[in-house]
Amino acid sequence: ETQKELIRDSWQAVSQDQLHHGMVLFTRLFELEPDLVLLFQYNSTHFTEAQECLSSTEFMEHIRKVMTVIDTAVSSLDSLQSLTEYLTNLGRKHRAVGVKLESFSTVGESLLFALETGLGDAFTPDTREAWSQLYSSVVRSMSRGWFK
Ligand code: HEM
Repeated sequence: ETQKELIRDSWQAVSQDQLHHGMVLFTRLFELEPDLVLLFQYNSTHFTEAQECLSSTEFMEHIRKVMTVIDTAVSSLDSLQSLTEYLTNLGRKHRAVGVKLESFSTVGESLLFALETGLGDAFTPDTREAWSQLYSSVVRSMSRGWFK
């Protein structure tokens, strides 16, 4: 299988329940980098604990937004270039809310963790490598938002 096929097939297997896998992703992210919780502020509600954040409806919407971006990237594997401008803008918005570029490495680890949790043995080393490359290319575009 090519890398694109590995990504499409594995995404299809988890995308029935995107919210669940997104919860696994962000639960892991907040374990690895608890201070990221502080960046999610809705209607001047400040979360201090991961659990509060993870149970808010606005945050649930953010999970849906993240999963939609990933879904779009998977649907656009043959034309990722077409997403560059959107992703640069998205990076700029994340810089504006106080995200540090380095935190996107932890997000990447957490994404791989969530995929591995969801896919089990089907998450082979080749599949991991394919996802790792896709995620890098998404972050490469988003990172432009920090520099221009
Ligand atoms: C918006 C934080 C990672 C996609 C936001 C907002 C915050 C935020 C505070 C604004 C409030 C909201 O819309 O809920 C973070 C933090 C992250 C992170 C702390 C991890 C370090 C990501 C990732 C993606 C993403 C990995 C997708 C690849 C989005 C989208 C929006 C958004 C699509 C809406 C942007 C808009 O309104 O146009 N994020 N985010 N976020 N985030 Fe994230």
